[in-house]
Parts: sequence; structure tokens; C-alpha cells
Amino acid sequence: MIFDLVIRNGRVVTGEGDYIADIGINGETIAVLGEGLKGKKTIDANDKLVLPGAIDPHVHLEMPVGETFSADDWESGTRAAACGGVTTVIDFVEPDPGEDLLAALQKRRACADGRATIDFGLHMTLRDDHPQTLDQVPAAVAAGCPSFKTYLTYEGFALNDAAFLHALEAVRKVKGMVMVHAESDAIINYCTQQVISQGMTSPDAHPLSRLAIAEAEAIQRALALAEATGASIYIVHISTATGAQALEHAQLRGVSAYGETCPQYLTLTDECYSLPGFEGAKYVCSPPLRKQKDRDGLWKALSNGVIQTVGTDHCPFNFQGQKDIGLDSFIHIPPGLPGIETRLSLLHTYGVKSGRISLNRWVECCSLNPARLFGLYPRKGTLMPGADADIVIFDPDFECVISHEMLHERVDYTPYEGIKLQGYPVMTILRGIPIVAEREYIAPTARGKFLLRQGIR
Ligand code: URP
Ligand code: ZN
Ligand code: ZN
Repeated sequence: MIFDLVIRNGRVVTGEGDYIADIGINGETIAVLGEGLKGKKTIDANDKLVLPGAIDPHVHLEMPVGETFSADDWESGTRAAACGGVTTVIDFVEPDPGEDLLAALQKRRACADGRATIDFGLHMTLRDDHPQTLDQVPAAVAAGCPSFKTYLTYEGFALNDAAFLHALEAVRKVKGMVMVHAESDAIINYCTQQVISQGMTSPDAHPLSRLAIAEAEAIQRALALAEATGASIYIVHISTATGAQALEHAQLRGVSAYGETCPQYLTLTDECYSLPGFEGAKYVCSPPLRKQKDRDGLWKALSNGVIQTVGTDHCPFNFQGQKDIGLDSFIHIPPGLPGIETRLSLLHTYGVKSGRISLNRWVECCSLNPARLFGLYPRKGTLMPGADADIVIFDPDFECVISHEMLHERVDYTPYEGIKLQGYPVMTILRGIPIVAEREYIAPTARGKFLLRQGIR
């Protein structure tokens, strides 16, 4: 048989396997893995790793924040993602207060359709527990959104414990996943008032206003409330070792609890907030960057399986024109960091090459587990017959130093400037068609499709 496309002789690394094989692709899907396959077109992957397309379960593209929007839109953000080896992103629907969930979903989809260059899913945000909101949860699942984002802080979004319990209960009934941004609103408000009253307004006050204990307390509480209801819970962007420990304890008690951390918490520390002038604003995100001991604890939790995924929480704001809204006070700096393009390489360099995680674990965290937890497996997240031919060819020996200029993210800086990388994606294939070659985006049209994700448990 002659396949449409054959990727020859690569080292195929999935969450579970690691072997030399050819991959035969027909149309948009993988037909077979084998030896000596013949294709109308062939790509030589000798000496390269061949991976399932990476899945970023946590991005914010053109997200409204106050008067502004996160700087990458669906087109620029997904192009940058593709250049970083990502073939699926999952962003969020954030309905206005009282807005019909399905109407909000349609609007968000319309924003991405025809502009997303890779496939995309959407998590549904629950910002209140009104019966008319929670009654729509089953319809959101039927429309392809089985995961629901909640917040325990942020004005206009924070759910109190009773409301959070109601949300957990509603999502449990449909076998969905509750995602939670877990920071204590009360501790943050208290600490923010303290630092402001001491006249501290520069970016180095940001981590003092959102202490590690604010995260640890909220994670602990969210897990306890999930345990009480029997719902599945996914803690987003865990930044502290104590937060990861709370997750581990819940898992040991049998709670259906999962966790995500982000490259920024694995590779940077709060020393960035002490950079001269206003530079620290480049690192303002919530939760903030933490200490070396947190970084070590997060790597441990990632390697031993307590944390399942690495999402980027890509939420870029330009240093000039957006971050500087907070020149007068750190509380006005729009929070969020860019990172949609650099995750695979950072994790390969500082995880795999540094001996902290295995090659399989790297792929598991960046592709297989996001697919499994968010209803995309086995269509995505693996390389097997019948799966979408979303494939990354990764050169493990390519070395470079990150600079803003080499990236495709539409933002005027990268928090990883000057950081050395070992290994980089050289080609990204979306459903059988190369969209990135030699580290440049080459697709003539945006083929990204909305993914109707399945119920999770
Ligand atoms: O600072 C952050 N993380 N901004 C994005 C929104 C969120 O909380 O995930
Ligand atoms: Zn968050
Ligand atoms: Zn986020």
C-alpha cells in the first residue's frame, strides 16, 4: 500500500512507547506504524524524535481584561503554538454575568473559527451558581465542553464555598471536570491592603500580595469541597510545593484530583520581581513566581505523577502599552505571561536533558494527559492507527538561546529571554499536513477545527 505521507525512520516517543518506526498517514489520520512503509510523500525523521502533537490545556487568546485584551489573537497565538509543536489548544469561554452559556460558546467559537491555525477546544467558565446557570451545564457538555473553569479569587468571578460546592455538584452529575484557579481571595485582599498601606507599589510587591499560603489554603479547601461532593477536580497553574503536597494528600485519600503546573513555575523564581526599574512587571502573573524550593517541589510532583500536566497559561500582555498600565501600582498590571511557543523545548531542556523527567513523562505531561483528562483521547495525545495525524518532529540536539526575535508570539518580550534550550520542534503536522517546517509557519490557510470533546469520567 502507498500512503499519502510517510514519516520515515524516526524515534517514535509517546506517553507509553519509545521505538524506531515509520508512520503511514492517509488523509487526516494515522493508518499504520511499521517498517519500510512507502508513501506518495515522505519525510525523513532519522535522528529525530517523532511525538504526538502537543496539547496545551490552558491558554488565553484575545482574552478581555479590563480595557485591554491579551496580545495574541487566535491567529497569531495558534501560529506561535504550532511553531512550538502544539497542535491543539484549549482556551476558555467566559460568559458575561447571566449570559446563556451556549450563546457565549457560539460567540467564542465564532471568534476562533477560520482564524485558529490548529485545533482548539473550549473550557466553560462558571462565574455564579444561579440555578439558571447550573441548569445549562448538561447542554454545555453536549456542545463539546465537558470541563468547567471556576475561580476562588478575581472580582466578578470568585465563587464562595457554597457556590463552589453547587458548581462541583452540577459538574459531577454530568461526569465532567471542574477546573479551579485556587488562591484565597480573603488572604489576597488582606495582604494587598497591607503592602499598599506600607506604600509599596512596584512589581516586587506583587508576590507579597499573593503569598504561597494563599494558594496552599485555597487548594486544600478546593480539594476538601471536591471530596465532599465526589466531583473530579483539576487544579490549574499550581505554583507552590505546598500546593502540590495538598494535591498528593487528596489523591492518597482517593479524591479524583488532578493538577497542572506551568513552565514559568518550573524554570523561573520570584527573583525576577527584583529586576531594575519596571522590568519585574514582565513577570507579573497570578499566582506569582515562587522560590527555588517550590520549583524543586513542582519538578518532583511532575516526575512522580502527582501533577499530570504542564499547561502554559499563555496570557501575554505587551510590556509597552499594556503591562505599563500598572506603572503607578502593581495592582493595575494585567496579570499573565507569554509561553505558548516555548513549553516543549523548555520541558525537554530542563526536564528531560536535566534528568528530572523521562522522555515518556515529557510527552505524557504535554500531550497524552491533557488529551485523557479533557476528553480528546485517543483521537489526540497519542500516535496509533485511527488517531489524528497530529505529529511533531523534534530535533533533540538543536541548541539555541531564547530571544524574543526568534519567537512568533505577538508580544514585545519573552520572560525566557537568554535562556538556553536543547532540543526544538522542527516540523509540526496538523491532521496529515505540515504547517510548520524548519521552525517556520508555512500553512496557506487556517485549518483549526473546534473539537467536540467527550465527557471525561
Ligand atoms: O496571571 C494569569 N495567570 N493570568 C491569566 C488568567 C488566569 O488566572 O489564569
Ligand atoms: Zn488562573
Ligand atoms: Zn489562566
